[in-house]
This record gives sequence, structure tokens and C-alpha cells, in this order.
Amino acid sequence: MTALLEVSNLSRVYEVRRGAWPFGRQATLHAVDGVSFELPAGRTLGLVGESGCGKTTTAKLVLGLVPVTGGEVRIGGESLPAAGTPSWRALRRRMQMVYQDPLGALDRRLSVGRQVMEPLAIHDIGKPAERLDKALAMLDAVGLAQHHFDRFPHELSGGQRQRIVLARALMLDPQLLVCDEPISALDVSIQAQVVNLLLALQQKLGLAYLFISHDLRMVRQVSHEVAVMYLGRIVEQGDPDRLFATPAHPYTQALVSAIPTHARAKRQRVVLPGEPPNPVDRPAGCAFHPRCRHATTRCRVEAPALRILADGRRAACHNAEQIA
Ligand SMILES: Nc1ncnc2c1ncn2[C@@H]1O[C@H](COP(=O)(O)OP(=O)(O)OP(=O)(O)O)[C@@H](O)[C@H]1O
Ligand SMILES: [Mg+2]
Repeated sequence: MTALLEVSNLSRVYEVRRGAWPFGRQATLHAVDGVSFELPAGRTLGLVGESGCGKTTTAKLVLGLVPVTGGEVRIGGESLPAAGTPSWRALRRRMQMVYQDPLGALDRRLSVGRQVMEPLAIHDIGKPAERLDKALAMLDAVGLAQHHFDRFPHELSGGQRQRIVLARALMLDPQLLVCDEPISALDVSIQAQVVNLLLALQQKLGLAYLFISHDLRMVRQVSHEVAVMYLGRIVEQGDPDRLFATPAHPYTQALVSAIPTHARAKRQRVVLPGEPPNPVDRPAGCAFHPRCRHATTRCRVEAPALRILADGRRAACHNAEQIA
């Protein structure tokens, strides 16, 4: 069976200026560098990694919002056409994006109801009465009341606004939601509610999620599989429980050890030396080697491929077996 979303060897480069103007020289930044994964219908792939590792760029490439430099995105076996074309718009209906900041995603001048109905109006689907019925049903599905229909975004709480964003995203019956930090702008007390809503909607509607978050505990809770990115590449991917319990890549190990725990931690916190490197100056060999306490001579010269380990997960590390 083909997966709902198949991403193969996805790459995106940007030409940037290195150094201060006017002396800077052109340089190539590899924001996403050969990323491949599959996401079956109704499942969640969590995507984690430090700021700037390429998570949002990956999300935008998947939706065709940023043109690829290389590689391919397939939805339900169909290759994603160039953005803006009628066939792209047709496929695009099946994938929606949920951003971090709901207020930025909503139009402050339009009522909640108008905004929730908007996708149907844009795609010229249904009669006005049918659009109204569907919007009211959708408000109910995301835990809002009918009286929210005539309210405006600024009159609602952050959590309620994110529910409206979800209601609007679901109006076209998508199969995939790409959620880029969907809860990080929300109050901690609201985050769990929105995550529970996402889980309930997945159960009810069979949605697939590409779920990007800095909150590793939340990612572990919601994901069926997790991919860890470092400098534009996936360095480890697999079952969340196994990946978080016994990381096979030293970078995952460091990320996991930084998760705050309430239980008096037996785990030794691994502190990463050095800053995340500039993606314009990607280190030779394994890009992680300058920060890695396990690095050997081989790591300095030979880039490790993402390979399948005995337990089924993937890791891009020459020493993964010893580390896990
Ligand atoms: N339009 C652009 N022009 C030049 N560089 C870009 C552009 N968009 C992204 N980048 C660079 O690509 C890299 C990846 O960026 P991206 O936004 O995907 O990271 P991210 O993992 O989403 O980070 P964060 O966790 O901070 O959201 C960064 O180095 C960023 O500076
Ligand atoms: Mg981002």
C-alpha cells in the first residue's frame, strides 16, 4: 500500500550573502538536504530539531508553498504539481497547514463564521445554506459554540483562535494537516486541550499529521513515528518510545537529555559543546562531529548515511550500535 505522503530526497537551497554588506560573498545555504520519509493515512510523524534545522522549510516544501530545489513530494501516489496550477490547487485541498500563531493566520476584520466558511467560498463548494451548516458543525467538532460564529478573532482566547484555525483547515475535508508548532504560542494550560483535540480529530476523521514541535514530550505523546533533523538532514527516525528511551544518534541523545523531568533524573544530562553550526558552513564528514563526544577520525571525513539498525529504526551515525 502506498503511504498518503511520500517525500523522497527533498532539498531546498537558498543563495545567501555571507558576511556583512557590502563585503559579503554569495554562499549556498542547504536549508533541507535530501530528506525522505513516508506518512501513512491517519498517522502522525513528529519532526524535531534545533531552531534553523529545516523543519518549517520541510513543511512548506511538502505543501508546495516553497519550490523544491530537488527531490519529490507525492500525495496519494500523485506527484505534487507546480504551485499555483489548477492541479496543485486540487491536491492542495487535501493538505492544510496550521501555524504557530493563530491570530496571524486569521483575518481580524472578518467574523469567525465568515472565515470558517471562506475555504468553501474560495473553492465554490456548496450553496450558502450548506456552507453555513458545515461551518456550524465544524465549530462544534472543534469544541466551540454556535455563538462564536459572529465573534471576531480579537474577542477570543488563544486556544479558541487555534480551534478556529483548525475548523477552517478542516472545511475542505483534508487528509493531511501540517502542524508547525501548533501549540507553542498557547498558554501551557491550554496546550494539552488543543493536543487532545488534535488526537480526537485524528481518531474521528482519520487525519494524518506532520507535527513539528520543540516540546519533545508532546511529540512523543502524539507521534506514531519521530524524525530528528540536524542541519537540514534526518539523523534519526523511528518509534517514539524507542527513540526517546534509547537514542541511537548522539544528537538525539543530547536533545532527549535536555527534556525536563519531574522524577529525580538518573539520566546524565548531555550538554552539547559549541553553537549549532551555520548551515552555510556545513562541517565536513558528519555535520554533527564538532559537537559530538563520540566522534572519531572517520566521522570527520565520511558523512554517515541514514541506515536501518537491527531494531528497525534509522540512524545516520557510524557508531549508532554502540551508542544505542
Ligand atoms: N527564504 C529564505 N532565505 C534564506 N534562508 C532561509 C529562508 N528560509 C529559511 N532559510 C534558512 O533555512 C534554514 C532552515 O530554516 P527553517 O525555518 O526551516 O528552520 P526551523 O527548523 O523551522 O527553525 P525554527 O525551529 O526556528 O522554526 C535556516 O538556516 C534559515 O535561516
Ligand atoms: Mg520553524
